Amino acid sequence: MPATAEATHDVVVLGGGSGGYACALRAAELGLSVALVEKDLLGGTCLHRGCIPTKALLHAAEVADAAREAGRFGVRATLEGIDMPGVRSYREGVVARLHKGLQGLVKAREVDYVEGAGRLDGPHTVVVGDRRLVGRNVVLATGSYARTLPGLEVGGRVMTSDQALGLDEVPGRVVVLGGGVIGVEFASVLRSFGSEVTVVEALPRLVAAEDPASSTALERAFRKRGITVRTGARFASAQDGPDAVTVRLEDGTELEADLLLVAVGRGPVTEGLGYEEAGVTLERGFVVPDGPCRTGVEGLWAVGDIVPGLQLAHRGFAQGIYVAEAIAGLDPAPVDEVTIPRVTYCDPEVASVGLTEEQAREVHGDAVEAYEYNLGGNGKSQILGTQGFVKLVRVTDGPVVGVHMVGSRMGEQVGEAQLIVGWEAHAEDVAAFVHAHPTQNEALGEAHLALAGKPLHAHN
Ligand code: NAI
Repeated sequence: MPATAEATHDVVVLGGGSGGYACALRAAELGLSVALVEKDLLGGTCLHRGCIPTKALLHAAEVADAAREAGRFGVRATLEGIDMPGVRSYREGVVARLHKGLQGLVKAREVDYVEGAGRLDGPHTVVVGDRRLVGRNVVLATGSYARTLPGLEVGGRVMTSDQALGLDEVPGRVVVLGGGVIGVEFASVLRSFGSEVTVVEALPRLVAAEDPASSTALERAFRKRGITVRTGARFASAQDGPDAVTVRLEDGTELEADLLLVAVGRGPVTEGLGYEEAGVTLERGFVVPDGPCRTGVEGLWAVGDIVPGLQLAHRGFAQGIYVAEAIAGLDPAPVDEVTIPRVTYCDPEVASVGLTEEQAREVHGDAVEAYEYNLGGNGKSQILGTQGFVKLVRVTDGPVVGVHMVGSRMGEQVGEAQLIVGWEAHAEDVAAFVHAHPTQNEALGEAHLALAGKPLHAHN
């Protein structure tokens, strides 16, 4: 069909996920005329297949654990089972409310919302069906997809997180391929729901991007929960049969399962969209940036998971806002990757910001100290019955450059941690602030007290 109807905007955004819609909303707020193109649902992976629905699953898992372990707290309750259609309607309800709210925001800011698959036709034009959207600026925000491995076809009992979200019964035995963020979150949910879970990870540890102390604590906690963790284990092949899927590892081990969840990373969605033809350089599918969120082609920007770095929704939001402000001529500060907080919502949670101890030593040499505050000394964590720690990494006589935390609900503490790292606070600065008792937040305060040389409830 010839592309005929032509409209001109200050900004045309291709992709309505976290990075794209944040950019569209901020640009509209700044008085720019904006078109936002989305082929599926406004909100993208985060809202419909990622952050929000998986965290709803994790909350349902927490409720199941609370019922199962109620006796520990002197409460009589029994867990009768998991009603997966019930979990589904709870999850869908949360997503639907947020989706509606987001649609309302886009409408209220008078963004020209265009439904359909768009592709670039040169650096300033996005073609969607028979519409040509011409932008003074075009922002690429097409996100990522769940990867699989060569020779491993998704279908039947072999699923990625996309299909696993919609499970309508709890699988008996699960093999999770990949012990990264998605792998450990799903392993955690399915174990709480009653599955027998084995995590297969090629690297020597789970959540390998985190400080090794966090990986060790998570592995220990997972083993205690009855999750089998096979690290340093490479996948060889899988065969889906009539009764089970058989997973073979390179060392010859065979594992039988009712579900093989493939969580080996997410790849950028950039193929066949006219990017390279418009002058964008791609490497392994990612946009090679030429300056912050810049593609090297004047007026053509990129945000979110297609830009190498942390594939996190909040990074996408921040980059989208940055680009909108840059287009509007506000001279914003580029998004700093190091102070982006990271939270993995398995049980126990793993949260961090800044440098791992190893990274700090690479940057600062030997002038680095680390301190680990054990949650055993934290009243609220004891009340909740969780174990873990707050690990601080600082430059000797200098600022705290990394905070790493493990424990149920410890993700909620990452807000203060990011201010500490972002504002380059010294332990003494933080120690001077009174932290509320009894909270888990107090553990952060106590860790800094200890590092400042005046430990209170610290046993090491
Ligand atoms: P990931 O990169 O975090 O983990 C993939 C894991 O699979 C790696 O540890 C890798 O070593 C392993 N692996 C790869 N090939 C393998 C093989 N042949 N055999 C065994 N193991 C193998 O990717 P993941 O977990 O799929 O997540 C994708 C992205 O989504 C991540 O960037 C993550 O940050 C983001 N995400 C963030 C969440 C959060 O912030 N809470 C939640 C879910 C996803």
